[in-house]
Amino acid sequence: MIQEKNNVFVLSNEQFSYLLRVTDEGRLEHLHFGGPASAEDADALTCQYGLGWGGTVCEKGCQSPETRPMEWSGSGRGDYRETPLEREDGSTDFRYIGYEILSSVVPMQGELPQAQGPAETLQIRMEDTAARLRLTLYWTVFDTAVTRRAVVTNIGETPQVLRKCMSTCMDLNGVYEMTTLNGSWSAEAQRWTAPVGPSRLVNESTVGFSSAQHNPGFMLSEPDATEEAGRVFGFNLIYSGNHYASAQRSFHGLTRVMQGISPDHFRWALASGESFETPEAVMTFSAAGFNGMSKAMHRFINEHIVPEAWRYRPRPVLYNSWEGCLFDFTQGRLMKLARKARDLGCELFVLDDGWFGRRKDDTAGLGDYDVNKKKLPDGLEGLAREVRKLGMDFGLWFEPEAVNEDSALFEAHPDWAMTEPDRETLYGRNELLLDLTKEPVRDYIVESVGHILDTVPISYVKWDMNRNSAALGAKAHRYILGLYDVLRRIFGPRPQVLLESCSSGGNRFDLGMMCFSPQVWTSDDTDPVERRRIQQDVSYLYPLSVMGAHVSASPNVQTLRDTPLFTRGNTAFFGVLGYELDLQDLLPTEEKEIRAQIEFYKTYREVFQYGSFRRLKTVEGYAWQVSRTEPECHIAAVF
Ligand code: GLA
Repeated sequence: MIQEKNNVFVLSNEQFSYLLRVTDEGRLEHLHFGGPASAEDADALTCQYGLGWGGTVCEKGCQSPETRPMEWSGSGRGDYRETPLEREDGSTDFRYIGYEILSSVVPMQGELPQAQGPAETLQIRMEDTAARLRLTLYWTVFDTAVTRRAVVTNIGETPQVLRKCMSTCMDLNGVYEMTTLNGSWSAEAQRWTAPVGPSRLVNESTVGFSSAQHNPGFMLSEPDATEEAGRVFGFNLIYSGNHYASAQRSFHGLTRVMQGISPDHFRWALASGESFETPEAVMTFSAAGFNGMSKAMHRFINEHIVPEAWRYRPRPVLYNSWEGCLFDFTQGRLMKLARKARDLGCELFVLDDGWFGRRKDDTAGLGDYDVNKKKLPDGLEGLAREVRKLGMDFGLWFEPEAVNEDSALFEAHPDWAMTEPDRETLYGRNELLLDLTKEPVRDYIVESVGHILDTVPISYVKWDMNRNSAALGAKAHRYILGLYDVLRRIFGPRPQVLLESCSSGGNRFDLGMMCFSPQVWTSDDTDPVERRRIQQDVSYLYPLSVMGAHVSASPNVQTLRDTPLFTRGNTAFFGVLGYELDLQDLLPTEEKEIRAQIEFYKTYREVFQYGSFRRLKTVEGYAWQVSRTEPECHIAAVF
């Protein structure tokens, strides 16, 4: 619900209240983000501002903007804390013009994906008359979260350049810790907590994608918050590219928090009349500790982020060929595996990398879509037909954003790859990225993938991307807009296809991808001991329904650790279950155990995928619990 009274805006949902006010000077002041509150509470919630002193730049009444909690701040005009918006040619100081309350989501102007579903939106218009810029801010209120974004328009006659434009900015009263999810390939999402103090804490990706190094989601919590109690804020960004978030505590006790596209190398030219639109930031709050916050975020993602056709829809138990076969397969070998997978209870057979062009290893073939007839003499159609005859669905791996130099595509269009003409070419996993800012490149991908989806009975796609970007700043952003255009054009008209996004595991585990992809391959690390930590830390900000989790062979191919099948199964249950190993190697006792695992998972799949998940702190570590109320059911695992 959104209400306005005496220039105070109250945004409230099942989870929290959020209050802001237009000040006498026409600025936006942040009043409250927390438990239930109303417009009548505004005066009580107002911070007692410190007076300006020393070198502080003051306005009338000797009040300095620097001492006040802002909902959006200017730059170079008295508030010298970090600014959410920087233009190349000077200061900014936006003043309120007017507002509107709308009874729905307000669609994005461009390609960026956004949260969907029943919601109300507050739109506030502000203007900086000297800078000739208009700022339109949007707060969209969903049942358990609020999203926020900004649109900046050049209302002058001459071109302007933006160097930074955040999606959200606010000053929270209180003392907090910031928790981020950091890591690398095969070691994603390692939780890191630091006190927010006077030196700025920054969570930023500069690799071109949301990254395994620094997931865009983060939390702020009271220092003594636990899993079950205490005030915890959850933040995220609906974006797959370079991102930025910061938290910094002022001398006056206000914690400035902001989040948006990374300003690293960012430079966006705005011609007269043009606008720049930021991605949506997501915010939620709970006074019931980290579990309370996670529950609100999980519900928001399940109900407002993943594509409508897959909301609360049970996900199939899959078999994936990668760790079992790598590039070494024939139709005969695949069919043996498919038969075994079906007998064990798998519902979907996924052919991973290696089915196309000159792909014998990872040095060749990316960019091409012709089927390798030596491996698959009956083509993809023949294989898919045979798999479906077994009563399983068929899924296929693609890596459409990349190209190998050893490919027919590169020979025909070397200029489609992103390289720097005067520099040595740099590779990641022997590949280059295709320049998705170019329309013919996007058309080629849409037509090539679309043709296969329309001619082969494919019900699942694994969309991989295996290198960091070469694009910087504004080009990196345009690349991501190009990617969203491609995904929308391919999967929009084919909502029945289940998309699982992957990027060397979790290099693009973000809400932007989840708007197209209801599940994401969490990590290439399938060792259950390491997976337990990865899945647990991911669970702070993402639901189990989005986490691809597979049982693989032991000893583990990445870590060489030997673990019981029991442990591997128990870990993978807490996600979207799959199997990824050579099934021909299984002992009869292992087959029996896997059959029982799949049967158990299928019985409780909706509880695992969509139940309420809690991390339970034990003396020695953590236990996990998933629960459903109707009919009541609780499943727990102690690790
Ligand atoms: C990446 C993915 C793996 C697998 C391989 C195939 O590493 O993360 O799951 O698909 O590519 O080359």
